[in-house]
Amino acid sequence: MRYGYFDDTAREYVITRADTPLPWINYLGSDGFFSLISNTCGGYSFYKDAKLRRITRFRYNNVPHDDGGRLFYICDGDTTWSPAFLPAKTPLDHCRCRHGLGYSVFEGGKNGVSAELTVTVPRHTDMELQKLVLKNESTEEKKLTVYGAVEWCLWNAVDDAANFQRNWNIGEVEIEGSTVFHKTEYRERRNHYAFYSVNAPVDGFDTDRDTFLGRFRGWSEPRAVEERTSFRSIAAGWAPIAALRLSVTLAPGESSTLLFRLGYAENPPGRKFSAPDVVNKERAYAMLAAYETPAQFDAALEELKAYWDALLSRFTVRSSEDKLDRMVNIWNQYQCMVTFNMSRSASYYESGMGRGMGFRDSCQDLLGFVHLIPERARERIHDIASIQSRDGSTYHQYQPLTKRGNADVGSGFNDDPLWLVACTCAYVRETGDFSILDEPTPFNNEEGSEVPLMEHLRRSLNYTLTHRGPHGLPLIGRADWNDCLNLNCFSHTPGESFQTCSNYESGKAESVFIAGMFVKYGREYAELCERIGLSAEGEKMRAAAGEIEAATLAHGWDGEWFLRAYDAFERPVGSRENDEGRIFIEPQGFCVMAGIGGTEYGKRALASAEAHLGNEFGMEVLHPCYTTYRDYIGEISSYPPGYKENGSVFCHNNPWITLAYCTVGDGDAAFNMYRRNAPAYIEDRSEVHRTEPYCYSQTIAGRQARTFGEAKNSWLTGTAAWSFVAVSQGILGIRPDYDGLIVDPSLPKCMDGFHAVRLFRGTRYEITVRRGEDKGLRVDGKPVGGKTVPLASGAVCSVELVI
Ligand code: BGC
Ligand code: NOJ
Repeated sequence: MRYGYFDDTAREYVITRADTPLPWINYLGSDGFFSLISNTCGGYSFYKDAKLRRITRFRYNNVPHDDGGRLFYICDGDTTWSPAFLPAKTPLDHCRCRHGLGYSVFEGGKNGVSAELTVTVPRHTDMELQKLVLKNESTEEKKLTVYGAVEWCLWNAVDDAANFQRNWNIGEVEIEGSTVFHKTEYRERRNHYAFYSVNAPVDGFDTDRDTFLGRFRGWSEPRAVEERTSFRSIAAGWAPIAALRLSVTLAPGESSTLLFRLGYAENPPGRKFSAPDVVNKERAYAMLAAYETPAQFDAALEELKAYWDALLSRFTVRSSEDKLDRMVNIWNQYQCMVTFNMSRSASYYESGMGRGMGFRDSCQDLLGFVHLIPERARERIHDIASIQSRDGSTYHQYQPLTKRGNADVGSGFNDDPLWLVACTCAYVRETGDFSILDEPTPFNNEEGSEVPLMEHLRRSLNYTLTHRGPHGLPLIGRADWNDCLNLNCFSHTPGESFQTCSNYESGKAESVFIAGMFVKYGREYAELCERIGLSAEGEKMRAAAGEIEAATLAHGWDGEWFLRAYDAFERPVGSRENDEGRIFIEPQGFCVMAGIGGTEYGKRALASAEAHLGNEFGMEVLHPCYTTYRDYIGEISSYPPGYKENGSVFCHNNPWITLAYCTVGDGDAAFNMYRRNAPAYIEDRSEVHRTEPYCYSQTIAGRQARTFGEAKNSWLTGTAAWSFVAVSQGILGIRPDYDGLIVDPSLPKCMDGFHAVRLFRGTRYEITVRRGEDKGLRVDGKPVGGKTVPLASGAVCSVELVI
């Protein structure tokens, strides 16, 4: 069943009913001011850091779910309704939500009045704009009372949700005209404030939540709204809000537009006040003046659309598979940009209060956006590499505001360093910018410790080589990609973090997955060396990769598939010898992508993966699921069977299988894998899958779960980047390389070819792939041997591949 449809021309997902199985959200903002916005207008805003600069409040555990956010009430006679259905919950005559790229539109109508609310955060603007157009479609005059409101968060989202003995005393606001200024803690050490404003004179306001709502009431029925009044309350502690009230009178056919603006501003420390204890509001007024009229709003929205046009024109495809096209051209790339902006911080599953930027997550996300924003990718690589230690190990996370490694989580995730090699090689292949390798990059952010980035890569690989276990395979440390496979943890204390405790450092537990990574990225590094004239080093690295490949074949092959690991007592994990967790997906994907054992091993491993792990939504991470807690396995076995790392379809690693199928030349299987959880392909199963049909989720409950097929944790997942790599570089086969663009598709039989446009190093490659007798690659009409389109010098290059 569906709850809406894709409008590919407008690049929107149109939700046609409010009761989606879960809130279906969108992201606004691309620079500093960000908002999450659900299909009923819920969500929250923050400036740069969702924990430290939370602007509006959101209660994750709220009942009902997704209450709050942007609160609009339209009062027409005895009826009160909201354009996005919530908060008023009055059944609407019509209602839909259109989520677009960086904006959302809510259309609602009741009793002859229609509302269109468009919400966006313009480029380079620290404000969320909410344009509300009201239209009288009836034959009588309408006298409406309109409210717009938000609830302030007291900046630090953790304290805001925890330290009430203080919080309930500190809330402060100022009101001037049609603007409420939120200035909690401004009197002391904060130099920033927020504001909520409307571009018309207000009849009244409230800034104290409990006065506005009244006792025993929630957002669906505030007392002020019920009484069509405002109490002019001034918050003193408790919960400050901004609620603005206006009157709008509309003749039949007439419409009126209001522009609400939610902003964030900072003042230089010496210019905080315009009078004792009065916020200097110059900045806010300048910002408001820039968006005072609907025309200014419309121009900003146009500019935003042009920005997305330009971004998405870097890679487009047209094929017989409209769902694949829609994922590639719009939604998959959009999600990649969201993961660039958010990492794993703020979604409807990530509270924005927990993790910083993950080392491995950020490196992998980069694979999905490097072609879109190469300059930002360069900067990101520098930030990431700067938290590495001299021995090649690295902090697992860093805080986006400080860019410092996060000491609470520390290091010891032995896959981490290798991801730096992966993303740097991808960056250089995309851009041809070898100079990044010379970029002075510190260890642990220590001034004076800078060495060329290349040295960081070298140390990454060396870390793996010098940390090997009894079988010559890489030691796993606290965990590898699978954060929940904790082989040195042995936790028996409730609440102890599986990822950071190690009650028994065996110094023995090994990872076949890291072996696969090493072989793949070690060889990529070797090629990089060769490209910059370090052929001896390249050769040495090839030998090392060969050694790990041999160790993997000798000790990491279980007969029909790749083993997952050896535990602290040198026992195999992910082996036919095990009663549960007999086969894991990760090494099947990575070892096959790395080419370990060639096509023969690859095909067998993939056949086993399909046979044991395959279901209609993809491939599960392991099988059979662990049914009891096992201290020698760790967090995996803490999850009920079929959930998360314990045997769900963990979507992130499914594209590895797609790519592995491409590696062994099986285009049908690759596409079959791809479409099983590509959101557009499962839109019809929305009542089962439940999360947004326009973005990937991290996890889909597996066969052994009680809710097989139910997804969770949408948006912030490495699935976005890897799925884009799988479809664009694997299935469509368009791969950036050092000296050209490789065109080497692995198409399924059901696809006869495609047209693609790929912007690469300043040239627009117009690529046609078709089936035919006259096989071969032609560049600007001339036959070219091999699969690489040499770098073109012109603005446009036409490429034809006949397969
Ligand atoms: C989750 C993992 C995640 C880890 C670190 C675990 O509880 O299951 O998916 O990587 O936490 O945040
Ligand atoms: C989510 C984490 O963000 C990621 O780093 C990890 O690889 C996966 N979970 C698998 O555990």
